Order: sequence, then structure tokens, then C-alpha cells
Amino acid sequence: MLRKEQNDLLTQTGPGTQGGRLFRSYWLPALLSSELPGNDCPPVRVKLLSERLIAFRDSQGRLGLMDEFCAHRGVSLWFGRNEESGLRCPYHGWKYDHTGQCIEVPSEPVESGFCKKIKLKSYPLIERGGVLWTYMGPPEKQPPLPEWEFALVPPEQSFMSKRTQESNWLQAMEGGIDSSHVSFLHRGDLSSDPLFRGARGNQYNLRDSRPVFEVVESPGGLYIGARRNAENGHYYWRITQWVMPSFTMIPPRGNHPVHGHFWVPIDDENCWTWSFDYRPDRALTQDEVQAMRDGKGTHVKYVPGTFLPLANKDNDYLIDRAGQKVGKTFSGVEGIAMQDASLQESMGPVVDRTKENLVSTDNGIIMARHRLLRATKALMEKDVAPPGVDAAHQTVRSAAVILPPDQPFKDAAKQHLVVQAGVAHASV
Ligand code: FES
Ligand SMILES: [Fe+2]
Repeated sequence: MLRKEQNDLLTQTGPGTQGGRLFRSYWLPALLSSELPGNDCPPVRVKLLSERLIAFRDSQGRLGLMDEFCAHRGVSLWFGRNEESGLRCPYHGWKYDHTGQCIEVPSEPVESGFCKKIKLKSYPLIERGGVLWTYMGPPEKQPPLPEWEFALVPPEQSFMSKRTQESNWLQAMEGGIDSSHVSFLHRGDLSSDPLFRGARGNQYNLRDSRPVFEVVESPGGLYIGARRNAENGHYYWRITQWVMPSFTMIPPRGNHPVHGHFWVPIDDENCWTWSFDYRPDRALTQDEVQAMRDGKGTHVKYVPGTFLPLANKDNDYLIDRAGQKVGKTFSGVEGIAMQDASLQESMGPVVDRTKENLVSTDNGIIMARHRLLRATKALMEKDVAPPGVDAAHQTVRSAAVILPPDQPFKDAAKQHLVVQAGVAHASV
């Protein structure tokens, strides 16, 4: 459990908060590249860390991310005209370039130079791996560009989706590092989901619902090892990567693509759940990509034209009580992603962590919170860059391996926990 002040500190990420300063140390996924498909395409509203922003791609292909509201009298620039290398407010024609600099105030004489004094707050926006990334911290602290493997492999080897989630980022992220729930909540899907089924490792998951967790600090966050019994006294290890503040990579299964998430606060009561799937060694097959588009694996089906899941809070996640009863799904909700999201949203927008009763399988969660608290303190008091900012902390991998009982996973699986370009993940 956490004290109320600790819970507030970790869950509040708006401007001026301590948690907000932590998140403003990193490159964060802001949009899919496909949301700004071409030069002069319509601008897109983006809310991140409780800040309302507008993103656009200008006539020269330059990307801009800036304050959503016109500096004149506060009109939303979502209505703006994206034309001739700038975004023009439709109310009185003030125009801004991709850095937020005002470049035209048509009602004022040009000689006055008035527009030079007007600049909207703006952040860098860069494209990598089908994602537009932003950094919202002080310019002098801008870290090197993100080095996540999924974003650097050729595009045909990687797939990314995002969905809105109606909960604070932390309870979503905690679900991502809590692999003990797989043996319960997702048990039906291990044998039916096209992106999970058929792996030998699934049998160990289903047979042993009392995994032993060993959690070890990594340079960027944690290695979360979950140990289950395999044959002949050996152990089946699933090693999840958590890199600060909110990146996870789930251990692979069989020959399936490897997936993971980012959770990025929209505000304190909503977050973006980003879900990637990739293969370092081959293109994704047509069937795999089709399954991802159809909302299988960690992806979802959407309300058309939105990033809101089709099964959502307003329709009780289309719960199927008969399916729950016969064990088609464990909770009655279809699909791994919404099984997770439905339960995380059911805790309320910000779960009260003063009331929880944690057990040994929550060790990963406990250590992640400590690491977040420690890093925030060091950042606030001594201006120390937090773990995960360094690009070397990002070149990590999850793994699934079978090991003899006397070998600690972090040594025996060491070479599988870092990127080996072009080589498949260690998987069972
Ligand atoms: S409010 Fe935008 S130009 Fe007047
Ligand atoms: Fe899950």
C-alpha cells in the first residue's frame, strides 16, 4: 500500500507536479504517424500530461505540437486552416508556424513587428517507428531520441495501436507488470487467441497458478521474473521488462510476435494505452497483422472513427455472463486488452492505494513504485536524470526460458535480456 501523499505524487502528472516533472524527462508517444498522414492535413487535438495541445504537419512536412489555443482570444486551433507552412486561426487570421511562433497578424501593420512578440508554447515532435514522439521538458535537458527496438526495426516487422483508457496511468501500468493474473483472467485466451495460442509455455502458465516472483533492478527499471514449474524439476521463467516510467515488454510465447505497452497520461483520470507487436527477425505475416487489426492479442476493436474501444465502460464491456459461466472467458469480457482495461477502469479513475492488501505476487508492483518514488525524489532534490532516459536503458528485451533450478534468471538469461539485432527473442 501507499500513503495518500505517495499515491498523489505518482498519479498526478499535470504541469508543476512532481510526477509531471518525471514524465517530462522522457520522449513520450504522442500520436500515430498515420494521424497526420500528409502535408497540410487536418490538425489533431492532443491532450498529454493534462496539457491541451494541437499537432499538425505543415506544407513542408515539418511537424508541430503546440498550445491548442490561439494567443489572440483563445480559439481552438483545431478549427485552423493548415496552409502555406503554418496553421491559421479562422477567427481573425493569426498564423503560427510549426514552432508555435506567430508569423502573421493580418489586422496589424507589418512594420509594427507585433507578431514577432507572440509565441505559443510548443514541444518537439519527431517521427520514429510509425509513432510521433514528443518531449515536454526543458529544452536544455532534451534526451537522445528513443531507441526502443520495435521503433527501429523495418516497418513491416512492427505494428502499433493505441486506445484510450478511462483510468490513471499507474493502475494500467501496474496491470502490465503483474503477470500472475494471466493464469486467471486470460486463461481462456491462451488457447484461443491467434497471437497467443499454441505456445508450449502456455501449458506451464495454465498448470501452475502460483508463480514465484523474483524481481531485480535493471539499469532502466526492473526485470520481473515469474517462475513456474516445468518438467524434470526445471523452471519456466517469464521475464518482463519494465523501463521507467511506463514501458513494458511482455515475454514472448512460441513463435508469436513480442508485445508490450506504454501508458501515457492524458490527464490524471485517463491515459493512452499504446500496444506494440514486433519481430526482430522477420516481417509480420499477413495473418498476424490481420489479427492485430481485428483487435486480437493486446489490441482492440474501436468505436468507428475513434480510439475508444468498442467494448467500453458505457456498455459494460459487452460482458457475456454465459461465457463467464462455462469458462469461455474467465471474466466474461472478450479479448485480452479489454479484460485488463475493464478491471483497471473498475477500480475508479485513481485507485485508493491506502486500502489495498498486497501479496507476494505484487512484488514487481511494489518495487516499481519504490523506484518511481526514489527517482522522482532524486530528480526534484538533486536534478538527477531518472532511469530510462538513457537510450542504453531502452535496448532491452523480454524473454521466456526454461532453466535448471539452481540458476538465477538474471545471470542465466542475461544475453536474452538485451537487443541482439536481427535475432529472435528467447521464447518457449
Ligand atoms: S482568436 Fe485567433 S485570431 Fe482571434
Ligand atoms: Fe493482462
